[in-house]
Amino acid sequence: MYILVTGGAGYIGSHTVVELINHGYKVVIADNLYNSSFDAVARIEFIVKQHVPFFNVDIRDKEQLSKIFETYEISSVIHFAALKAVGESTKIPLKYYDNNVNGTIKLLEVMDQYNVKNIVFSSSATVYGDVTRFGDNSMIPIPEHCPNDPTNPYGKTKYVIENILHDVYNSDNKWKTAILRYFNPIGAHPSGLIGEDPLGIPQNLLPYLAQVAIGRRDKLSIFGNDYNSHDGTPIRDYIHVIDLAKGHIAALEYLHNLQNDQGLFREWNLGSGKGSTVFDVYHAFCKVVGRELPHEVVGRRDGDVLDLTANPKRANEELKWKTHLTIDDACKDLWKWTVDNPSGYNIDNYSWKALSANDLSNRSHTIKVDDTFKVSIMNLGATIQNVTYKDAPVALGFVTEQEYKNQSFYIGATVGRYANRISEAEKLKLSVNENGNTLHGGKFGFDKKDFLGPVVKRNKKENSTTLEFYLLDPHLENGFPGDLGTLVKYTIASGSIEIEYESELLGKADETFLNLTNHSYWNISTGSSIDGTKIKMATNKALEVDSKSLLPTGKIVDREVTGFAKGSAGIDTCFVLEQQSVQSVDTRSNELQTVLEATHPDSKVKLVVQTTEPSFQLYTADHLDVPGKFGPRGGFCVESGRYIDAINQESWKKSVILPKGETYGSKTKYAFESV
Ligand code: NAD
Ligand code: UD1
Repeated sequence: MYILVTGGAGYIGSHTVVELINHGYKVVIADNLYNSSFDAVARIEFIVKQHVPFFNVDIRDKEQLSKIFETYEISSVIHFAALKAVGESTKIPLKYYDNNVNGTIKLLEVMDQYNVKNIVFSSSATVYGDVTRFGDNSMIPIPEHCPNDPTNPYGKTKYVIENILHDVYNSDNKWKTAILRYFNPIGAHPSGLIGEDPLGIPQNLLPYLAQVAIGRRDKLSIFGNDYNSHDGTPIRDYIHVIDLAKGHIAALEYLHNLQNDQGLFREWNLGSGKGSTVFDVYHAFCKVVGRELPHEVVGRRDGDVLDLTANPKRANEELKWKTHLTIDDACKDLWKWTVDNPSGYNIDNYSWKALSANDLSNRSHTIKVDDTFKVSIMNLGATIQNVTYKDAPVALGFVTEQEYKNQSFYIGATVGRYANRISEAEKLKLSVNENGNTLHGGKFGFDKKDFLGPVVKRNKKENSTTLEFYLLDPHLENGFPGDLGTLVKYTIASGSIEIEYESELLGKADETFLNLTNHSYWNISTGSSIDGTKIKMATNKALEVDSKSLLPTGKIVDREVTGFAKGSAGIDTCFVLEQQSVQSVDTRSNELQTVLEATHPDSKVKLVVQTTEPSFQLYTADHLDVPGKFGPRGGFCVESGRYIDAINQESWKKSVILPKGETYGSKTKYAFESV
């Protein structure tokens, strides 16, 4: 059974989805991305290390909404989807009523049709209106029985929806309805991967202050210091978004614990019960940032009131929920989110497109570093799909997902769990896919899997962009022992792509073995063949292999290569850098070493390959054959990694065995320049 989360790509929704999954729930997200980005969903998946079904639908579209209920068995709905800007709602009230009220009506109709009658609704403390109207402080801190009197169209939509939900419950007592009235949500996920990303000028206190701190705004305006508080600024009940997210789990569990035929309509305040002034929050954030942030006290903002502090007793007692995190925690997490993502999810030189109509699990991600260099990488196989240097393609790749699925040449893919061949694979109980060997990870290797992510981040100072992809490969996949978590991090800078692999054994075995590489086919010529490419190698030492089995004999022999002349014999050889140890499972502390330089006299393009790895397979693809696309010697591969079949050679074995608690790692860099 799934929990449908409407608005799950938004600020509070994304944090709640993470908490739901951490608590063992299965989740489907519906969001029209009006005020959010699919990158938030990709990052949710990255945090929880699993795929989360996502539907790009407007909740007012009943037909599309019904498809979700057809596809997944939904037990309950958490309903966040709404427009939420108070100021904007006074300018375009009809849009607010249509989106929020009409959207909820459509959602309730579809839920009713599919007999799903559990709902947790995002309401707001704004329904109470100005509680100082009671004059005698009798309603501060605010209890749930405080009369409602919202003062703006946004607040009124929440008030109307609460009433609709009440009427629906009155008409059919099977509905179980939790109304959660949030006070002031702040902060971000401590990973720094998800957070609040307001469009345009932020209206709320902390998002604005964060943008001042990161240099996007000049100074904070403090709206009045003549209120009756300890420092003259208004009092609010700020609550960490993680605590708030957990409040939804508590409410959901409360509903699930009711007797089957026992309906409910009940409101709960989600707040800390502790009021803080604007200056309290300002000082807490300045402390985290480490400096005084520019600010100026200006006149009061229209509609602001002295004190909105929750009385959260009902939620504390009935939901067994209370806040645990402080304003200091929220400021720390907000600052991490801001520093790691100075412009939110929006990265100016990054774009993506879907590779199939209804499924965003495999997308093509493009980084345009500058006018000379552009790289596309997709989720399937964390594959390098396209590299353009000075307007010419320098790597082989396809456009559609199907083209990748139709071929068996690993074009541009991450190869795992084990690059190249493992002999006597049956003895190791591995998937056999070539003459008794496991080749490139077996029948269902990394190249055939959708990696999660990417998490895209821009480093403006270095003019580089990183894309991080993650794959959790389960125990005994292709026969390999242990759950294996692998991070593939691409750093794209001007003219260069650096690949970093990092793997950890997550369980079900005490050790496993692996060897990761990238299988890009480079072509720096001006034509469709690599003929004429000149090669300068850092080594002339290679593994001797048996000519029939292509497996190493254990000996190292001399092999001189200077280029790929027309008509010359193909190369498919593992070259070794004898000075690099074959004992280390994490080579990242080695310096990147230049292992090969390729140039072509016609294009005058040079490719320099560097790696921390002890060997690399140089392969001229003499058997490449994708009709109408790429023929023999259409590209050459430089696959850095560990020695071939190291797992079966006592003296090389250590480099491919990953014990639990240790980390596997390597780095390889491909750089282009003009000569
Ligand atoms: P948000 O804008 O970040 O998230 C709302 C999400 O709903 C967005 O991803 C948006 O694209 C989506 N959405 C909007 N209309 C939709 C539609 N018609 N169909 C499908 N998706 C739609 O806002 P948030 O801060 O995460 O707020 C979530 C909920 O909590 C809202 O209902 C809001 O009113 C309520 N709330 C928020 C606050 C706050 O301070 N953030 C306070 C009280 C209540
Ligand atoms: C506002 C909304 C409320 C919504 C909540 C959370 C109004 C009247 N209410 O509450 O419906 O639930 O956001 O989204 O808009 N402040 C400054 N300078 C700024 C911004 C804010 O001094 O640039 C002060 C405000 O005067 C206020 C406090 O900071 O005293 C908090 O403001 P804000 O974050 O906008 O939240 P609320 O006004 O409490």
